[in-house]
Amino acid sequence: WKTLDDMDLSGKTVLTRVDINVPMENGVVTDATRIEKIVPTVKDIQAKGGRVVLLAHFDRPKGKVVPEMSLGHVKDALAAALGSPVVFATDCIGEPAKAAIASASGDAVVLLENTRFHAGEEKNDEALAREMAALGDVFVNDAFSAAHRAHASTAGLAHLLPSAAGRLMAAELKALEAALGTPVRPVVAVVGGAKVSTKLDLLGNLVTKVDHLVIGGGMANTFLVAQGIEVGKSLAERDMADTAREILAKAAAAGCTIHLPVDVVVARDFKAHAAHETVAANACPADAMILDAGPRSVAAIEAVFAQAKTLIWNGPLGAFELEPFDAATNAAARAAAAATKAGTLVSVAGGGDTVAALNKAGAADDFSFISTAGGAFLEWMEGKELPGVAALNG
Ligand code: 3PG
Repeated sequence: WKTLDDMDLSGKTVLTRVDINVPMENGVVTDATRIEKIVPTVKDIQAKGGRVVLLAHFDRPKGKVVPEMSLGHVKDALAAALGSPVVFATDCIGEPAKAAIASASGDAVVLLENTRFHAGEEKNDEALAREMAALGDVFVNDAFSAAHRAHASTAGLAHLLPSAAGRLMAAELKALEAALGTPVRPVVAVVGGAKVSTKLDLLGNLVTKVDHLVIGGGMANTFLVAQGIEVGKSLAERDMADTAREILAKAAAAGCTIHLPVDVVVARDFKAHAAHETVAANACPADAMILDAGPRSVAAIEAVFAQAKTLIWNGPLGAFELEPFDAATNAAARAAAAATKAGTLVSVAGGGDTVAALNKAGAADDFSFISTAGGAFLEWMEGKELPGVAALNG
């Protein structure tokens, strides 16, 4: 794929696909991270003499015009982050879009309405993509976090116009390549979260790629069950025990060492500050549930981090939203952040819950790279080709 450096943008209208699908409450943006991350791309296009026209989706309106899902609600936050005026068009194609583009002068940026208001967007409809393409001269895709969708404004447009990756897309791809494509070894992956069933492909791919795989969260319980260990009332997918055993066998064959909790924090209630105790992983009382990994498990994870060169992280190690069951996630996150800061570890993390957990631990800022992607990060960790990226390659 090309980058902005490979493109002549002087005097060009640059259709720029971004992901500003940001969390919002009562019409107000509550986390502007995704908006802030596209600023370098917009500024660089402008510096190269291009006029920026932003294409984006918001939420899942399913091909209908849903006023609450209008990108008009994001306009002010976008203008604030850019420090430039934003001209909003009430449609992403046709006359409203053309008029907005024609009216934008100076460093004004055009924001087109939610692409998903058109049913053709998610169908990657060529006629819709052609109407979008008619608005500009070149296409820049800066939406890595939407690259797992083969939509008209992601994959479709890239086939119709000269295309390049934006700065954020390029940074994401570079970081992910460094973490899993051609990493400096040893590589350790941390995978947590509630269920094995949602991360099967991911685990199956990782065991063939990484040297160490730390499994935490509810999904670790399923692996304990697979090893014949009783986990009381813990969240566990008992019907996935065979699958978990297959993953363990695949890991052994590939030379990947799996790290499961050796001690666990158990409680009788699933609530913050519930009475709790730390027991060996094979000693969960029948009436209790595992809510976090224990200190010996954390020490083992820290030892792995100490000798690893590359870390890729997705998913918390315990019920991190409930104190004090965020302890293992916090401690491991801080250890990774410290090793990164010391220059011994390249650390990459992604996925909605993961970024929230690393932020809560105060560790996110010291990671080498935090992906803005949720689903796209997971699909990439699964080893899947992302259509939005593939289309940039022609
Ligand atoms: C995301 O929030 O992960 C992206 O914007 C993609 O959204 P989607 O899952 O609705 O396609």
